[in-house]
Amino acid sequence: MEKSNFFDFNSYLKVRTQKIEKVLETYFPKAKSYEERVISASKYSLFAGGKRFRPLLCLAGCEVVGGNWEKILLFAAGIECLHTYSLIHDDLPCMDDDDLRRGKPSCHKAFDPPTAILAGDGLQALAFELFSHPDLVKNVNKRRLLKAIYLIAKAIGLKGMVGGQMVDLLMEGKKGSPRILKWIHFHKTVCLIEASLLSGALLGGAKFKELKVLSSYGKNLGFAFQIIDDLLDIIGDEKKIGKKTFSDIKKQKLTYPAIFGLEKTQKLAVKYIEKAIKSLKFFGTRAEPLKALANFILNRIPTNSKFVQNEQISF
Ligand code: IPE
Ligand code: IPE
Ligand code: MG
Ligand code: MG
Ligand code: MG
Repeated sequence: MEKSNFFDFNSYLKVRTQKIEKVLETYFPKAKSYEERVISASKYSLFAGGKRFRPLLCLAGCEVVGGNWEKILLFAAGIECLHTYSLIHDDLPCMDDDDLRRGKPSCHKAFDPPTAILAGDGLQALAFELFSHPDLVKNVNKRRLLKAIYLIAKAIGLKGMVGGQMVDLLMEGKKGSPRILKWIHFHKTVCLIEASLLSGALLGGAKFKELKVLSSYGKNLGFAFQIIDDLLDIIGDEKKIGKKTFSDIKKQKLTYPAIFGLEKTQKLAVKYIEKAIKSLKFFGTRAEPLKALANFILNRIPTNSKFVQNEQISF
């Protein structure tokens, strides 16, 4: 029988997401004593649903360079812990003050702000526990693992996500330039998205040229991701995004729609996705999953958005 070139993205997603969930469940600490409350709070947010986009990128980065994604599931799971920590803190009353996350009351609402702070702290530590877990270490090249951890730590740190979150808050209610907005997006979101992909690629045995190509894809995808998130704050469906809409507007956040308006913002998102997909040429048909992941993000824009002409936009 002739080999089909058809790439089944739905089953691709299903298989990998299920494996990520399984690993998270298996390695999530079980409460035995007085720490029960903070464990429940972190568990509540970690398993509240969520696209698992960053761990999926990590696995896809590994796969595209010929690595075995099943061997690095613990690393990918660690990335999801970091991301969930960032969401819990991002929602706190002293930050974005958002009451709904992943379709449920935010961690500080279901518990309380001090518990939510600790739950986030705990998830951050758990990530590094998973990154250095013996069950992962035995599967991968140790020098590459150290490099991958270094990359992720930098991406979420003072000159990465945390720095971006700081400036996001500082710019509330202020008139900012496109330049500063791009700086915020790069640090608060793009850094971790790019590092998720590159860490997976490193663990999969990536060569220098492959890392360069993936870095370009990751950056463009990361920008598109946050621009679309900004857009969905206005035109998204609360049920689908699991968050309250108009939260950025209430907080007078510096966002793409605030500076460019909806139409231009949507065009910019399309442009970034196009650029991301273009850079994948190097990988030929092996890049199908990465291409589909980029289109998946683009297609978060509602099809009834008055700026979307086609049923679905795909490249
Ligand atoms: C939300 O991330 C935070 C941003 C960086 C915009 P996601 O949209 O990936 O949230 P979940 O993980 O699916 O809940
Ligand atoms: C959050 O950006 C980025 C991080 C959590 C690092 P947003 O504040 O726009 O994310 P949402 O919209 O609350 O998910
Ligand atoms: Mg925020
Ligand atoms: Mg927020
Ligand atoms: Mg947002």
